[in-house]
Amino acid sequence: MKHLIDPTDLTLEEIDEILKLAEDIMADRPAYAEVAKGKKLATLFFEPSTRTRLSFEASMLELGGSVIGFSSANSSSAAKGESVADTARTIEKYADIIAMRHPKEGAPLVASMNVDIPVINAGDGGHLHPTQTLTDLLTIKETKGRLDNLTIGFCGDLKFGRTVHSLIKQLSRYENIHFILISPNELQVPDYIKEEVLDKNGADYREVERMEEVMDQLDILYMTRVQRERFFNEADYIRLKDSYILNLEKLENAKEDLKIMHPLPRVNEISVEVDKDPRAVYFDQAEYGKFVRMALMMKLLGLTK
Ligand code: NCD
Repeated sequence: MKHLIDPTDLTLEEIDEILKLAEDIMADRPAYAEVAKGKKLATLFFEPSTRTRLSFEASMLELGGSVIGFSSANSSSAAKGESVADTARTIEKYADIIAMRHPKEGAPLVASMNVDIPVINAGDGGHLHPTQTLTDLLTIKETKGRLDNLTIGFCGDLKFGRTVHSLIKQLSRYENIHFILISPNELQVPDYIKEEVLDKNGADYREVERMEEVMDQLDILYMTRVQRERFFNEADYIRLKDSYILNLEKLENAKEDLKIMHPLPRVNEISVEVDKDPRAVYFDQAEYGKFVRMALMMKLLGLTK
């Protein structure tokens, strides 16, 4: 295990180890306060972020390490035309591990091919977001107690949402997962996910347009925002942006033990009245993201307690 570019870079055993380590960290945070002493994380964020970048940084600080980086392409030499490969080769001289977010699919992979330190994909365009996937797995494990035998509804922008693509890719490796893909026609999961991930793994899935139709069947409802920055024109975004607004009324037929997840940021797709419902776990999910990133960086850097 050297880089994390795609969730399938990790075996199921490695993922299990990372989730277990995250649980150990949650149970005894002081024991991990100095394990990364002297180590530096570089966060190279060419796209906006709140949770991913700050949870990475908080994770490294909580492990006793330190952090350098930039939070927009404009404040780095990318604005002068530097290539991702050159940026990565430079940062390698300053840091021990890189977390990179980039609007271009494959940019973190290119970085990883040019350096000897671990590179973590913190989101590449509409492609993948493997550390959000680890976050989601830890959330599912902690709140449902299992990673198999689940009916999960993905709702919203399934076309451009990288968190959705990444989590589908991962969950289709577990037993007896039923996927219900809830989206307007124009925002359906891309064909390559259906063919190369769902069909290839023999996963059970169906596509629907209305969340009300399937609400009573779900163990997990994974809401997502419409990804404005990936649209080719604003008129389409405006037409589609409020396709789904989850409120308490829509949850009337939902299971008592449903868990409502969202990678955040939320725009309008979950009404704030839902936040108080015990089934809403999206802010806990953001917290699990910090612990799972601590565990991941320990593994990639070969650190132990
Ligand atoms: C997601 C992302 O960046 O893909 N955010 C996150 O990392 N938690 C989801 C989104 O931006 O909608």
